[in-house]
Amino acid sequence: MSKIEIEGLYKIFGPRAKTQAMPLVKKGKSKAEILKQTGCTVGINDASFQIEKGEIFVIMGLSGSGKSTVIRCLNRLIEPTSGSVKIDGENIVNLPPEKLREVRRKKMGMVFQKFGLLPHRSVIDNVAFGLEIQGLDKNTRLEKAREAIDLVGLQGYEESMTQALSGGMQQRVGLARALANDPEILLMDEAFSALDPLIRVGLQNELLELQARMHKTIVFITHDLDEALKLGDRIAIMKDGEVIQIGTPEEILTEPANEYVRSFVENVDRSKVITAGTVMEKPYALAVNDDGPHLVTRKMKQTGHSTIFAVDRERNFLGYVSIDDSIELTKKVPLAEDDQAKRNIRGIIRTDVATCSPETSLNDLLNSAANSKMPIVVTDENGKFKGIVSHVALISGIAGDETSETEVCS
Ligand SMILES: Nc1ncnc2c1ncn2[C@@H]1O[C@H](COP(=O)(O)OP(=O)(O)OP(=O)(O)O)[C@@H](O)[C@H]1O
Ligand SMILES: [Mg+2]
Repeated sequence: MSKIEIEGLYKIFGPRAKTQAMPLVKKGKSKAEILKQTGCTVGINDASFQIEKGEIFVIMGLSGSGKSTVIRCLNRLIEPTSGSVKIDGENIVNLPPEKLREVRRKKMGMVFQKFGLLPHRSVIDNVAFGLEIQGLDKNTRLEKAREAIDLVGLQGYEESMTQALSGGMQQRVGLARALANDPEILLMDEAFSALDPLIRVGLQNELLELQARMHKTIVFITHDLDEALKLGDRIAIMKDGEVIQIGTPEEILTEPANEYVRSFVENVDRSKVITAGTVMEKPYALAVNDDGPHLVTRKMKQTGHSTIFAVDRERNFLGYVSIDDSIELTKKVPLAEDDQAKRNIRGIIRTDVATCSPETSLNDLLNSAANSKMPIVVTDENGKFKGIVSHVALISGIAGDETSETEVCS
């Protein structure tokens, strides 16, 4: 796993990039103005960000916004005009050619939109091709290529000619070729964009499964927001060579930095991305299992509720108590005993209530919500009570209703 740090990165295309265009860029002139005045195209305009070890970092933006230029500066297929690109602390912008080749070979694999395969050679030859260039002996090459072919699920196709394969399978070959060397960084430029939607979704799922095992640092470019939201641990949004916003899928959806980002995300299916942890609220009160029925009944009556959620003293979630059960119990228990906590509500706690984790998507809560009038209870991995998702919070979370009052519980 490798960390990538990009600092003050610029790429201007054109013969007068440094002398004429850069001063104008630094003055804040627009991409269009600079093109008109100098004939130079601004590819990247002062990008600074870090890509963490083991994350899938998605870069998205409209055509021409600079995505491919950024990813190609990471392995210097394009030379930056200025700025630095550090990989595990080493600035690759200054590396002499042979050192750069070594970093590319050892640390990086690249997958392109057009698969870039050799059409008249077999799958295994294609996958082993990069290893051949590195001068590995034949047996090692074939062994590594077979491992990569297994990884992407192409066992049995080793000897097939790549041109005879479907687009989805060809792209698996491309992925296997990038993985053959076990690189720490995987650069994927629109890798799935040429595929049919169903095949594309399948490969997205496989990439996520692979990543759960491999923990590579993946830079993934797409202009498809659904793909970005699905794959990205974080997403960078670019416009005219500038990085406009970087955030988790939820942050991009719930706090778009400006109108441009907002217009990107307005038609997205929020229910798949927004989670219970984001929309959960504090309940009006909680009952503790040691509470007596008089106290618990009073809590409900005072606030006009007919149920109350119950926890133990460590805030482990137990279930809920209904007002009818609680009143019934008060009849059997003198108030004095209630106060001394001799009798408590343990025997009347009901458990027919849905729970979820803070990471559960709102989409996955819809079924539970449809089957019960009760809010859904959010618990952490140890079963501790975190908050509740009411039907109103669920619906306004999905609708993106900014006026709804959602309060995150501690
Ligand atoms: N070799 C080049 N020479 C001149 N201009 C270039 C070159 N490569 C890219 N550009 C320009 O730089 C800008 C960014 O291009 P880039 O290819 O990075 O965009 P992109 O976001 O990858 O777009 P797409 O979604 O179409 O792939 C564009 O205005 C493009 O025209
Ligand atoms: Mg591109």
